[in-house]
Amino acid sequence: MKIAISGKGGVGKTTLAGTLARVIAATEHKVLAIDADPDANLGSALGFNLDEVEKVVPVAEMTDFIQERTGSQKGSYGGTFKLNPQVDDIPERFSLSRENLKLLILGTIPEGGGGCYCPESVILKFLLRHILLQRDESIILDMEAGLEHLGRGATRGIDAFIVVVEPGSRSLKTARQIKRLAADLGIDRVYVVGNKISQANDKDFITDNLEGLKILGFLDYDQEIITADRRDQAPFEVNQKIVDNVKVIYENLKQELATI
Ligand SMILES: Nc1ncnc2c1ncn2[C@@H]1O[C@H](COP(=O)(O)OP(=O)(O)OP(=O)(O)O)[C@@H](O)[C@H]1O
Ligand SMILES: [Mg+2]
Repeated sequence: MKIAISGKGGVGKTTLAGTLARVIAATEHKVLAIDADPDANLGSALGFNLDEVEKVVPVAEMTDFIQERTGSQKGSYGGTFKLNPQVDDIPERFSLSRENLKLLILGTIPEGGGGCYCPESVILKFLLRHILLQRDESIILDMEAGLEHLGRGATRGIDAFIVVVEPGSRSLKTARQIKRLAADLGIDRVYVVGNKISQANDKDFITDNLEGLKILGFLDYDQEIITADRRDQAPFEVNQKIVDNVKVIYENLKQELATI
């Protein structure tokens, strides 16, 4: 199962990505969780030790390694470099690992934004392509907020998008935009998870505004999740309700992916 988790800023992408990865890992499946947000914080949502996470150098910032693999010269943007660098050893070498869970932090592509044609972007693109097409564990990608990553085509090869929404118009509008952009990439499977449910009519508001998007489940608004975030704890370890709800979401997702 190769899933990208997307949506408007602050809706709960990292909370869901971290908890879903833990739920899948607890069923004895291997999981590779990928922090694809330049403002990386998936590590603590997964329950990795914060000191260990902070020592990890994101792949895009491994200057010497990237030079070695691409044959590029430092600072020589526009110079020649290999367009098919070796990347298959990166997940084993550079991810944090605990039992059957791995975390890989991608980092930010410097200068020119994500669309730049530079050694860093070539490495990340190849790495994602390799991971999505050749690795056999479950993949959970925690994306940055918004839509920009969709334009880069980095998610080609994923099985489905999960768009996290909250009971408000703006996050639902983002969800509909993601559906359109994903369709342009040839990905039809775009599902919604409704987060931060606190009132009786919140679920109805979301369900009534989906315009054809399928809902996998809901997560309740819960102060404990915020407290966990402040303490850099995994919601999986402190809140049984979110674990139970994410299990339902995982079962629904498996069913969806099996029937198409
Ligand atoms: N169900 C919930 N109940 C209460 N608080 C929540 C819930 N889900 C997420 N939060 C809180 O909302 C904030 C944003 O969550 P999170 O970091 O998961 O969102 P995000 O979509 O990944 O944000 P970003 O766009 O910055 O990456 C955090 O403080 C988190 O603890
Ligand atoms: Mg996030």
